[in-house]
Amino acid sequence: MRPIDFFREFLRDPGQTGAVMPSGPGLCRLLAKTAGVPKADVVVEFGTGTGVVTQEILRQMPSTGRLIGLEINEDLARATQALCPDAEVLNENAAKALELLQARGLDGCDCIVSGLPWAAFPEVLQDELLDGAVAALRPGGRFVTFAYLHALPTPAARRFKAKLGQRFGAIGKTEAVWANVPPALVYWADKDEG
Ligand SMILES: C[S@@+](CC[C@H](N)C(=O)[O-])C[C@H]1O[C@@H](n2cnc3c(N)ncnc32)[C@H](O)[C@@H]1O
Repeated sequence: MRPIDFFREFLRDPGQTGAVMPSGPGLCRLLAKTAGVPKADVVVEFGTGTGVVTQEILRQMPSTGRLIGLEINEDLARATQALCPDAEVLNENAAKALELLQARGLDGCDCIVSGLPWAAFPEVLQDELLDGAVAALRPGGRFVTFAYLHALPTPAARRFKAKLGQRFGAIGKTEAVWANVPPALVYWADKDEG
């Protein structure tokens, strides 16, 4: 899918798409590396968009690994699946991650790489999706997501960060990726070992 088509999806539903263009290569690499994709057996991606992060996860993942992408927009899910035949891309709500893993005989995943636009979501949706992420992670599993620097001071972005701290044993952030448009950083959050 061309960037202009992604922009069209943004115009159709800005609150769900949350970005005017796909993540750049540096941010995609940092997301996958920070998540621990090179050592993961089962990876889940929330909000694949056009599939740029999906491609990078496949590049870094062990050959025995399994990647399940969840994308709520049917056109974008189809575009990601066409770009990334080695991933299983489902046109599903990320909140259903655990149920979708269990339907495939999996007890959970080692990491979640999220592209969801958290700062554009109302509180109830942030809660639902974060609770779904925690439930889908195996003990000790890692959740990563990006945040745009210009949006960090907004109430929704601050609320999201606080919610990460309430649900995970340890959280942190990377340096900024200034070359991304717009500049962004990556949050990581580790689920307790149990
Ligand atoms: C900011 S875009 C990120 C796309 C891509 N990961 C990237 O970094 O370029 C967010 C994506 O999340 C998807 N999305 C929003 N809410 C979702 C949900 N509840 N479940 C799955 N996907 C969702 C949108 O359709 C959109 O494709």
